[in-house]
Amino acid sequence: MIMLTNAAPFHDFGDKAFAVNASPIHAAAICRLVAYWADRGLTIRRNLREVITNIDDFVVAIHRQRAVGCGALETVSAEVGEIRSIAVAEHAARVGAGRAVVDALVAKAHARGLSEVVLLTKTPEFFARLGFEAIGHDQLPEAFTDMIARQEGRTLTGKVAMRRVLVPAPVTTEVVVPADVAASA
Ligand SMILES: CC(C)(COP(=O)(O)OP(=O)(O)OC[C@H]1O[C@@H](n2cnc3c(N)ncnc32)[C@H](O)[C@@H]1OP(=O)(O)O)[C@@H](O)C(=O)NCCC(=O)NCCS
Repeated sequence: MIMLTNAAPFHDFGDKAFAVNASPIHAAAICRLVAYWADRGLTIRRNLREVITNIDDFVVAIHRQRAVGCGALETVSAEVGEIRSIAVAEHAARVGAGRAVVDALVAKAHARGLSEVVLLTKTPEFFARLGFEAIGHDQLPEAFTDMIARQEGRTLTGKVAMRRVLVPAPVTTEVVVPADVAASA
């Protein structure tokens, strides 16, 4: 289930998590979620200032009125985005928070007109369930590997590279005219 709005959710999601665009008020929770898994070697710590500055990249997963998951879409080039900082609280595992976050980030990538989303992970089985394919490090876009090389503390070593190619929505040039306007023309 994707929900990309900051408005109060009135839908009944049952006991499933859903995703919303992050606001600065979520920044501290995002840092805590990411730090928890960084301590276990699965994510890279993000600091509060960095998260607030890039808050439009982030979404959070909500479950039982609490932010229980997060993730970010970083724009790498005009074509490529990176999904990173995916983290779900252990107490909210397997209620769809991770899927909701990734689906919302893929929707963000579509909205930015990107054609490909890549990521580096030690949890490839999770992303494989969400339509990502494992690729060799040498198949990663150059703009991405250049960016990783420039960013402190980031490495490809020990991580699986994954990709999801985005299929653009069909564009129509046909102009649809309401029947009464067409009749009076
Ligand atoms: C991996 C992680 C994001 C999963 O979050 P989650 O909210 O429990 O996942 P969901 O409930 O949305 O599960 C979505 C699907 O993935 C599957 N899944 C979840 N975790 C999985 C895992 N570790 N391995 C394989 N499949 C997994 C679920 O069974 C579900 O499959 P289905 O819908 O086809 O039945 C979460 O465990 C986490 O934060 N892990 C540590 C940080 C990490 O590894 N981040 C990714 C690196 S960037």
